[in-house]
Amino acid sequence: MMPERGVPLDHRAEAWERLTRAVNQCVKCPLASGRRNVVFGEGDRLSRLLFVGEAPGLEEDEQGIPFVGKAGQLLNRIFEAADIDRKDIFITNVVKCRPPGNRVPSIEEMLACEDFLKAQIALINPSILVCLGMTSTKWILKTGESISRVRGKWFDWKGIKVMPMFHPSFLLRNQSKKKGSPKDLTWMDIQEVRDRWLECR
Ligand code: URA
Ligand code: URA
Repeated sequence: MMPERGVPLDHRAEAWERLTRAVNQCVKCPLASGRRNVVFGEGDRLSRLLFVGEAPGLEEDEQGIPFVGKAGQLLNRIFEAADIDRKDIFITNVVKCRPPGNRVPSIEEMLACEDFLKAQIALINPSILVCLGMTSTKWILKTGESISRVRGKWFDWKGIKVMPMFHPSFLLRNQSKKKGSPKDLTWMDIQEVRDRWLECR
């Protein structure tokens, strides 16, 4: 039986189409003028599991697809190791256009983009949301706590289970796999996410 969703199924295809058009045409903030492609997000629109990163980087901007650069390749390896198929989840970012030089998006840019992420979350209606890195964690949970303190813990956000994890770019800069290292902790976190996801699939 289909689980209950936020928006009735028969209205959802149309809503996705409207939303995709709105995001692709958006000029609500200055990032619009520098983009090659809007990075809407991709994956299973009915997934119980949603990953939210920060913003597109160079490769993402070129291809219009989230997490395809170096960080994305590491994320793919983490998914594979945990037996998570990328086509069975949805991945997007807080901000849909690339900030110049990959700087952290400004509050104004995140505010301009906020309704798009909210609409995506409402349409997907996931059981589990993983915040990748501090920007996404801060934006969604409105917390000032450091990522090291909150990662691996479950939070409730409007009935959705939220887990912050280290950003894969951070893992690229911290390659140690020793016990207690960011990579080691992320390996535990992704397995926890996978196990919870299997329970609600
Ligand atoms: N980093 C992000 O936060 N998102 C992407 O899509 C790529 C890199
Ligand atoms: N800062 C971030 O934004 N993310 C991390 O995972 C670590 C530090």
